Amino acid sequence: MYTHEIRERFTEHFVKAGHTSVPSASLILDDPNLLFVNAGMVPFKPYFLGQQTPPFNTATSIQKCVRTLDIDEVGITTRHNTFFQMAGNFSFGNYFKEGAITHAWELLTSSVDDGGFGLDPDRLWVTIYQDDDEAGDIWHDKIGIPRERIQRLGMADNYWSMGIPGPCGPSSEIYYDRGPEYGKEGGPVVDDTRYIEIWNLVFMEKERGEGTGKENFEILGPLPKKNIDTGLGIERVACILQGVDNVYETDLLRPVIDVAEELTGAPYGARHADDVRFRVIADHCRTALMLILDGVAPSNEGRGYILRRLLRRIVRSARLLGATHETMERFMETVRRTMTPSYPEIEDNWERIRSTAVAEERAFLATLESGEKLFTTIAEDLKARGETVFPGSDAFILHDTHGFPVDLTAEMANEQGLTLDRDAFDRHMQDQKARAKADNRAKKHGHANLSVYRPFVDNHATVFTGYDTLEDEGTILGMVSNGQLVEKATEGDHVDVILDRTPFYAESGGQMADHGELSTAGARLKVNDVQKIGKKLWVHKTEVTGGEIAVGMKVEGKVDPQWRHAARQAHSGTHLIHAALRQVLGPTAVQAGSMNKPGYLRFDFNFNRPLTDGQLKDIQDIANSAVDADYTVNTIETSLDEAKKMGALALFGQSYGDWVRVVEIGGPFSMELCGGTHVDHASQVGPIAVLGESSVGSGARRIEAYTGMDSFRYLAQQQSTLTTVATSLKAPADDVPERVDQLAARLHDAERAVARAHQQALQSKADEFVAHAQRLNNVTVVAESVSDVEAKDLRPMALDVRNRLGNEPAVVVLISSTGDKVPFVVSANEQATGNGINANSLVKTIGQSVNGRGGGKPDMAQGSGSDATGISHALDAVLDDLKKQG
Ligand code: SER
Repeated sequence: MYTHEIRERFTEHFVKAGHTSVPSASLILDDPNLLFVNAGMVPFKPYFLGQQTPPFNTATSIQKCVRTLDIDEVGITTRHNTFFQMAGNFSFGNYFKEGAITHAWELLTSSVDDGGFGLDPDRLWVTIYQDDDEAGDIWHDKIGIPRERIQRLGMADNYWSMGIPGPCGPSSEIYYDRGPEYGKEGGPVVDDTRYIEIWNLVFMEKERGEGTGKENFEILGPLPKKNIDTGLGIERVACILQGVDNVYETDLLRPVIDVAEELTGAPYGARHADDVRFRVIADHCRTALMLILDGVAPSNEGRGYILRRLLRRIVRSARLLGATHETMERFMETVRRTMTPSYPEIEDNWERIRSTAVAEERAFLATLESGEKLFTTIAEDLKARGETVFPGSDAFILHDTHGFPVDLTAEMANEQGLTLDRDAFDRHMQDQKARAKADNRAKKHGHANLSVYRPFVDNHATVFTGYDTLEDEGTILGMVSNGQLVEKATEGDHVDVILDRTPFYAESGGQMADHGELSTAGARLKVNDVQKIGKKLWVHKTEVTGGEIAVGMKVEGKVDPQWRHAARQAHSGTHLIHAALRQVLGPTAVQAGSMNKPGYLRFDFNFNRPLTDGQLKDIQDIANSAVDADYTVNTIETSLDEAKKMGALALFGQSYGDWVRVVEIGGPFSMELCGGTHVDHASQVGPIAVLGESSVGSGARRIEAYTGMDSFRYLAQQQSTLTTVATSLKAPADDVPERVDQLAARLHDAERAVARAHQQALQSKADEFVAHAQRLNNVTVVAESVSDVEAKDLRPMALDVRNRLGNEPAVVVLISSTGDKVPFVVSANEQATGNGINANSLVKTIGQSVNGRGGGKPDMAQGSGSDATGISHALDAVLDDLKKQG
């Protein structure tokens, strides 16, 4: 049974049973604790926690998931995919354990003709949480599974949570016995390869607090309702139903292995180590494609880093299999073919996906090349010294600085007859990990403890009235100071104020929070920042500038109108720049982030090369033409689905069922999902002055611009700078560029003339020295002081003079003085050193007289001192030495 059919049967089964079919959310949801969506339940989290009322009681979805924690297991085990499709059914206070168990059993064991998967019931085993007798009884009494095929496991295996605070509960897992050829008898507790887990039924009834790992966390209490969250691994079911050995050989991934065989020349199924590489390629190609589809671009941190790592592992694996050319495009093409039937949006985004992946491959191949050069230098040096061990520290540098994979280093070392010191390399890696962990911990501790807000998030939502007004009255629901709830605050206190109603915009969607003031009859508070907690509680970060306030008081909130005015300009300006950018660069330039605050905006987007001046100018022109056209700005509240149908640009962070706000400027000109505050008419944005564009990591660019009066001031400042330059050049402003070019050319000529004159001066000095050479004990000696010859010129000068003294023993001693430095150099020819003259000891003699130090070799040594008054003494001392040495 093909994977697409497995998906369809799953959805159909649950839709028939009354579930609403919900499309997969993006892999990237707006949850700072989650890099990627890693389970089907993630988009439904607010429903489980009771933060939002679900628009349905039961739902079913096939969610795109990425888990990279087990990345090293990929290809080694039979069942680890970094990208997988989790099919689930969900009940929000509707059915519970019995419903979930019956639904799952029916779908798995109904015959194929009846729409099921037709699995043999005798091959199914289940696990339950250790004391969940209720689940055990349902499996036994209702379903009829013999007790010996119901096994009990502890917290680590059968109590599910997201690994972070959120909903949790005991679970029951369904396993399929693949037969004795896959491992030992005894059920999943004995062997989880032979008995492969296919479906996890979570009885979501508790809320988990902070803690670590799967067992060590606090349970905060029951959820408002008893819920069901299940997850069936589509890939694993495919593996069983297609009768293949592992998930990498199922219909969606196997074609990539075939292409890899063709491109690398290596056969699949011949050597275990190679097979792992084939599977890594198949798995990672699909994950990479799906991540790029959802807007991730390769970079050195966060999500982008994971993508980069996946792409690099593909390139590396292909190379280790014998590929000598680029392979990425063919691989991606193959995934495109297998995945498009389920994800038709791949087609619309294909060009962006292809070019991103190929660009990363090229960049990495270049890295590998430079790493190979460094490797060769190290290896040759080792071999020249007769060493046989390739040091772990060098492998670490290759890995860390050059992105050079360690197993490649190991293989190349072997080819050179060297053995990599793997232990030392691992130690370096451990140290690096410990450093990174310490960093993360520091970051975490920097975050405020949000648990004090918990009761407010659960019970109240702040009403935001700031789209329509800048002034409104609200009641203080609570106050927090230094992480603790407080009842009162007085002048000088810094306190977070939670209001039931506020006109202040809280930082979100890239727009900085409003500034302004809160006041009562007797107190005033300055609002410096406003943050949203749990998406619905507005927390005002304030400083009490006079009087006293207490919880329960009514306060008048006033947003600084100037601030808001300029903030609206900047945010609408951001949309205009975004729209203009897409017109100029095409839809592959996908937004990667933005920030705007009064008068200023920056907009980051995924794009592989710098923009040309012409493109930047066009973007600025188009954005300003929209201002000039004075387009109307409309906001429309609607469902996510409707918004997408309208063509609104939906970015990360939205999930199905969200009520969204669409901001439209000039109809088709710009339409985006956005909760920000905007101007009413485009002309109110004022001029938009683009400052420039820059790189913010590989494949990501940034445009910065000013809006409104800041734009005007910036342009006026530019103008005034130009006028000042024009005045000093005594030229009209329009001629400035040409005049500056001319000046630069003249300066260049003048510099060359000075350099030539300098060379000639040095040359004639050298002539003079040669003429003044004296003979001491059969040695030709030049010992002179010069002024204003810098250290860098002194050495070539000494060599030049020495060469001109002929083949008799000769030594040249030059001491210069430049500012407060006294550089000196001694050079002796071979004949002189043969006579026992040593430049190194002569510079020591000089050093003593000029308060300096120096060193070098017997034929050439130099140094520097600081006491120019000792120069003539130094020359005498050198001559004395030479007399003695001779
Ligand atoms: N949330 C559970 C899991 O990810 C079941 O869907 O396994």
